[in-house]
Amino acid sequence: MGLVRIAVLVSGGGSNLQSLIDKIHGTYGEIVLVASNRKNAYGLERAKKAGIAAQVVSGEDYDEKLEALLREKEVDLVVLAGYLKKISPELVGRYKNKIINIHPSLIPSFSGEGCYGLKVHEMAVEYGVKISGATVHFVDENMDTGAIIAQRAVEVDWNDTPESLQAKVLKIEHEILAEAVKNYCLEKITVNGRIVAVKE
Ligand code: GAR
Repeated sequence: MGLVRIAVLVSGGGSNLQSLIDKIHGTYGEIVLVASNRKNAYGLERAKKAGIAAQVVSGEDYDEKLEALLREKEVDLVVLAGYLKKISPELVGRYKNKIINIHPSLIPSFSGEGCYGLKVHEMAVEYGVKISGATVHFVDENMDTGAIIAQRAVEVDWNDTPESLQAKVLKIEHEILAEAVKNYCLEKITVNGRIVAVKE
């Protein structure tokens, strides 16, 4: 059997994509496509530098275009790595337990509609939580509600700013996303309703 064929969807800088390029690409899986809803997303440049096909997907028939690309590239796993557009319920249904997302908080805290990027860390700092972290989860029809694959915490210090917390959390995002994708590629992940088991 060949390597697991991965598509990574990005809307921004793509540091999580870079972590997957460095830790997964060519060993546990093959990133066959990087797609973005934003033509200026730096993630597209990262893909090109690594020799990976990079595509902007936009316009009215957006969902159809994205699905056509995934089919054309025979994608097994879709990774949302800082992808800020909602995936259609149809696509979610057709790729059940094959789409994963990284979110920069300990879900269910600071998650759901409107919670993305720096805003998540602003909310965490404002609330005064003493720990925050990152979550990797399967994508379902709603926002940030799918079964959780992995979480890791960081301490929030009294003098953390949204920016400093973001930097701490990004570091662990890069670890847990790559670990989750690796485990997926090695077929170590099983899903039973909301409960995800990862075999050692
Ligand atoms: C990451 O912190 C990711 O968790 C977050 O966007 C950032 C993208 O950074 N995603 C969300 O907030 C999704 N709700 P990156 O482009 O450098 O990987």
